[in-house]
Amino acid sequence: MKIKEIKAKNLNAKRFIEEKVEDIREAVGSGIAINALSGGVDSSVVTALGHRALGKQLKSYFINNGIMREGEPEKVKAAFKKLGIHVEVLDASREFFAALKGITDPEEKREAITQTFYKKVFGRLVVKSGARYLLQGTILTDVDETVAGIKRQHNVFEQLGIDPQKAFGYKILEPLIELRKDGVRKVGAGLGLPKSMFDRIPFPGPALAARVIGEVTPERIALVRKATAITEAALTNVKAFQYMAILHEDRVTGTRGNRRVFGNQIEIRCWDSLDARTAKPTRLKFDILERIAAKITKEIPEVVSVTYNITAKPTSTIEAV
Ligand code: XMP
Repeated sequence: MKIKEIKAKNLNAKRFIEEKVEDIREAVGSGIAINALSGGVDSSVVTALGHRALGKQLKSYFINNGIMREGEPEKVKAAFKKLGIHVEVLDASREFFAALKGITDPEEKREAITQTFYKKVFGRLVVKSGARYLLQGTILTDVDETVAGIKRQHNVFEQLGIDPQKAFGYKILEPLIELRKDGVRKVGAGLGLPKSMFDRIPFPGPALAARVIGEVTPERIALVRKATAITEAALTNVKAFQYMAILHEDRVTGTRGNRRVFGNQIEIRCWDSLDARTAKPTRLKFDILERIAAKITKEIPEVVSVTYNITAKPTSTIEAV
């Protein structure tokens, strides 16, 4: 089914929210729905929308898959508590790392995360909670890229001909599917969310695994997590669409204390974009880049080299995996 886009400039957020609240209530009836919050813009907005529609009939979980950014589970739980929304944090990191072990192919990685998330962890939650619906923040860009075969977004099923009811045993509701990121932000503002929640830079469902080239191990995630924290802190005041640190698989020779070391490389990306369909590298000041490189190599001993991506999307994509 072709999805009709609602452009941000034509979006009446108040009316959109009222309509979606009605739709969600009608679909779920007196039943239970669940959703997983990653702390990203889309899942935060869909959680708030779902709670407005369903109140206590919606159970929200933060699945700690072990590949989130620094301090995310606690930060997200606390931010939603302030909104009166209870989020239960579940630690499933071992299960995710076990599923990712030995995998280096990008699509296989995404598939391993998808299967672990939807079939295993969520499958169990659905049984436990008695839910028949999963509320999810899929947006139109996710669908476009999956259908175009650019990248398999981990949250797109129906467009790939997969029936979630048959595959996983529950129905998926996707109230944001006609929107792109700029529209989702308008809905976030319309729902009264704090700006820090809907104006955050986008973060992908496959989390830091989308930023580790090669095998995703707890050690490699810890490394990219540190580099991510440094990069995000350095670039928060730059008005860019998204920025990130990527851990490369290839190593390079560097020096530490007059000794040659064969160390890791981090690539920084920073994007100007409206809706993620196309993007250009931000023309960052060179001294900002130098400061990031110095901090990363100082605080992460395993890293000896830091680079900046200067390629636009296309041919690049925003994430590296
Ligand atoms: P790419 O890398 O395809 O990213 O240029 C486009 C936008 O989508 C985000 N992204 C994802 N979001 N699941 C998501 O929910 C995914 O699998 C996924 N992959 C990429 C990415 O961060 C960027 O904003």
